[in-house]
Amino acid sequence: MTQFPRRTFAIISHPDAGKTTLTEKLLYFGGAIHLAGEVKARGQTRRARSDWMKIEQQRGISVTSSVMTFERQGITFNLLDTPGHEDFSEDTYRTLTAVDSAVMVIDAAKGIEPQTRKLFEVCRLRNVPIITFVNKVDREGRDPFSLLDEVAEMLQLDVCPMSWPVGMGGEFEGVYDLYANTLSRPEGDSREFMGKAIPFTGIDDPELAKILSPEAMIRLNDEAELAQGGYSSFDPEAYRAGNLTPVYFGSALKDFGVAELIAALADYAPPPRAQPAEPAPISPDEPEVTGFVFKVQANMDPNHRDRIAFMRLCSGVFKRGMKLTPTGHGKPIAVHSPILFFAQNRELADEAFPGDIIGIPNHGTLRVGDTLSEKAAIRFTGLPNFAPEILRRVVLKDFTKTKQLRKALDDMAEEGVTQVFYPDIGSNWIIGVVGQLQLEVLLSRLDAEYKVAAGLEPAPYETARWISAEDPLELKTFAEINRGAMAKDRDGNPVFLAKSAWEVNYIAERYAKIRFAATRER
Ligand code: G4P
Repeated sequence: MTQFPRRTFAIISHPDAGKTTLTEKLLYFGGAIHLAGEVKARGQTRRARSDWMKIEQQRGISVTSSVMTFERQGITFNLLDTPGHEDFSEDTYRTLTAVDSAVMVIDAAKGIEPQTRKLFEVCRLRNVPIITFVNKVDREGRDPFSLLDEVAEMLQLDVCPMSWPVGMGGEFEGVYDLYANTLSRPEGDSREFMGKAIPFTGIDDPELAKILSPEAMIRLNDEAELAQGGYSSFDPEAYRAGNLTPVYFGSALKDFGVAELIAALADYAPPPRAQPAEPAPISPDEPEVTGFVFKVQANMDPNHRDRIAFMRLCSGVFKRGMKLTPTGHGKPIAVHSPILFFAQNRELADEAFPGDIIGIPNHGTLRVGDTLSEKAAIRFTGLPNFAPEILRRVVLKDFTKTKQLRKALDDMAEEGVTQVFYPDIGSNWIIGVVGQLQLEVLLSRLDAEYKVAAGLEPAPYETARWISAEDPLELKTFAEINRGAMAKDRDGNPVFLAKSAWEVNYIAERYAKIRFAATRER
């Protein structure tokens, strides 16, 4: 396997904006060498009996995520899929720590929706550069200028239109590439795009006027002038720094803009970057193999408890059979049967390069946030835990199962399915999630995998904050005064459970020396 340049990216969007359709088209255009990953194909048959799977089926969503790889123009693209469901996004957030760039898909009729915005904020935290894809221009949509202004204002980004829709919905006559000066047109009876982009010398090319209707021509002339004059011109450096987003208009369903998007990822998106780590950032050029686990997928087989840890390779050339040591756990793990997603045939692949994802089967040794390396005692930083938005008390139906419940809650906290908090006073354990669906996953897995019958009751809290202070005495005093609201997370870190977001603000104002964090880096 030669070392092609890598582009490791994810798609962020609100449900229904067209992420699935765009993913399929990217893979199709990229002549996908590997669809949805062996993990999923294998997992699906094996997992079919589990209740977790039932939730996926009932809801018609995917709770698991996978890696899709394709090659084009001598570049290997690793697309990390993120569960798109509104309710289950913690996993998505973490996946974003393993990418170098992202594509933000927005629906032309809806603009920026809440989930898009949340995911964007995570990208911003890590300066992940964003390419915007305004989807569904074949349908009636909002005015392109209002969409551009919304992206600029809501996300505080410079926007640069790279292409322009020639009408939308019933008046749609194609997409004009403002930089390549090509027009992609609907063709055929069903007005599907057949894949040809016609080149012109510019918008004033008389040939263009022969193709478009007179109304469309006038509109394109006016709008393109305003678009090019009124917004930033494309600056690759500003894009890579996360300050500017190039905007492509298109239709994933009808293939408009997809080839342009792949070209943009190839030409502008950053290759693997240095990753934040202690004691110093790790450059992809360093010879030693290092990586971090951003996701653990369990329940592949309910009887065996095997798990796949997804590791992003940050430096070095990984070879099958290599021994890697998880920082802090001590014992090296020989990775004999890695799942290397870029391989057409899993058996043939035995090397991976920075930016690639490796699936490491294990029995629970590897946790989300773990650093793995050949020998150096380094630690990657910045893999966040998010403050839960829903807290529930776990009520055991059979008290002889306390030990099993604790094990199950710890396990699931370790996988990042839910968070668990052990209050300083009382014995009612609290679990915290970012979305409602995680609660259902928790209950069905408790029952199916751990044989623990449990229920959930409302907790008197609405949110939680990790607390810290320069002066340990300040922290101790705070914890004593607020003892009824204090808890520990799975790793023993102090957490303040609050009745409302308002209470968090109120308390934070009163105790200026205490830091209240809505995310915790692992
Ligand atoms: P998601 O993964 O972001 O949730 O969105 P998905 O791709 O599933 O797309 C949501 C709906 O929008 C689908 O329709 C899909 O066909 C449609 N869609 C996606 N891209 C385009 C586009 O460019 N133009 C148009 N007109 N529609 C688009 P659905 O009716 O919900 O599903 P289906 O029955 O068509 O599969």
